Amino acid sequence: MQKFIPLADHVYKLGAIDWNRRLFDSLIPLPRGTSYNVYLIQGSEKTAILDTVDPIKWPVLEEQLQDLKHVDYVIAHHGEQDHSGSLPMVLAKYPQAKLVTNAKAKGILMDLLPISEDRFYLVEDGATLSLGNKTLQFYLTPWVHWPETMVTYLLEDKILFSCDFFGSHLATTKLFVGREHQVYDAAKRYYAEIMMPYAAQVQRNLDKVKTLDIKMICPSHGPIYDDPSFILDAYTAWLYDKPFNKVMILYVSMHGSIEKMVEYLTRSLSLQHIEVKVYDLTVADLGELAMDFVDTATLILASPVVIGGLHPLAVYAGYVANILNPKLRYMGILSSYGWGGKIVEPLQAMLSRLRAEWLEPVLSKGYPKQEVFAALDQLANVIAQKHKDY
Ligand code: FEO
Repeated sequence: MQKFIPLADHVYKLGAIDWNRRLFDSLIPLPRGTSYNVYLIQGSEKTAILDTVDPIKWPVLEEQLQDLKHVDYVIAHHGEQDHSGSLPMVLAKYPQAKLVTNAKAKGILMDLLPISEDRFYLVEDGATLSLGNKTLQFYLTPWVHWPETMVTYLLEDKILFSCDFFGSHLATTKLFVGREHQVYDAAKRYYAEIMMPYAAQVQRNLDKVKTLDIKMICPSHGPIYDDPSFILDAYTAWLYDKPFNKVMILYVSMHGSIEKMVEYLTRSLSLQHIEVKVYDLTVADLGELAMDFVDTATLILASPVVIGGLHPLAVYAGYVANILNPKLRYMGILSSYGWGGKIVEPLQAMLSRLRAEWLEPVLSKGYPKQEVFAALDQLANVIAQKHKDY
């Protein structure tokens, strides 16, 4: 049986589909699994492998490499385990192969893996490496999403090997994306969780790779983009477009007061034709929430006072919002309390990374009464006014 899937002239896809993985970094939900894509390029003189697989899938890659007797170069775009973890095994299998990467990645790989220094062949931004009739060109793309990340451009075939950049956690046998909605959502989820925290650096790297004439993008997770504009346009919109006329409400309610306030505000905003996404933090999916952060203009956090301060789930939500670094424009707080306690200042301090404008908080002593509903209507009016341009 053929072990490599052909993509272009002497360019192949290898790697493993991880149908059952449901969590990444003990944090990120993977509702549709993922894949660890590996690529093989056979030039007229030299052969290169691009990245490896998570070590748990090494037996799959090892079997695919069974009949490949000689490799000259192993390209490492990124030091994270899901791509680099099988490097020691690949390098052991091909003792003559050089490990091609950049200086920053060398340090990270040597910190994380047992790889001896004499295996490395370092490249700088824009450097080329000839495989004979095929030429690899390397571009440093720091912070998509670690400081050492880089991509490879195959000049003759105009293929970009982007590693995590443009990836999607999606277990599928489909080789190419086409224009499928499912892949768009998975790529958006991936962008939100992995790339959005470094949006400024991702913008710079997007602009950099967009200067290349790209016919195909081969990421290390998910299907291949045979129409690169599909994902390049999506990234451009996620990074550069204004947020939508949309409010996210993240709430936790203990005895129903917050829930009542959230229901009321949701209705009041909806009457003003504002899209509202409501997340009960006791059951919310982190990935769904992150995706909505990509294009939401206003965030409302709602928490009761518990033991004199924020509910722990509100702390979690505030922390997540702050590290995801969404392009929010406005933020607000709803709270209910019995006899006292502080919510507003700690929450505002927690979200200090975001440059959004704070709206007037709405606080309810006990069950919400008429003056609270009036304040919520006023908050909805203010948001509608602020959203006029979105
Ligand atoms: Fe797919 Fe950052 O590893």
